[in-house]
Amino acid sequence: MSRGSAARTKPRWARVAAVSEVPAGALRAVSTDVGAVVLANVDGDIYALEDRCSHQDYPLSAGELEGDELECPFHGARFDVCSGRALQLPAITPVRSYQVDVRDGDIYIQLD
Ligand code: FES
Repeated sequence: MSRGSAARTKPRWARVAAVSEVPAGALRAVSTDVGAVVLANVDGDIYALEDRCSHQDYPLSAGELEGDELECPFHGARFDVCSGRALQLPAITPVRSYQVDVRDGDIYIQLD
């Protein structure tokens, strides 16, 4: 029985910044092949979200990080930086979150 010919593709990772460029409590915008991404350092753990608010597409990197929540400065929506889940109106849909790997002082995100 055939299982199809679709080959499994290897995940694509990209180095996006050095850890030293994203201090604890900070946000940093980076450009990637898949668009703008905002990195967040929550107590030493790095998270990555699409840098576009799901309310009106403004950059979340202009916002503020409070614990593990990112507040959009434009209309006050809040997102869980770990998952991208919308926590507060006016945003109701999540933003994309990316897998993050930290190796040898560099931050990598999984692009697809
Ligand atoms: S654009 Fe972010 S809350 Fe409106």
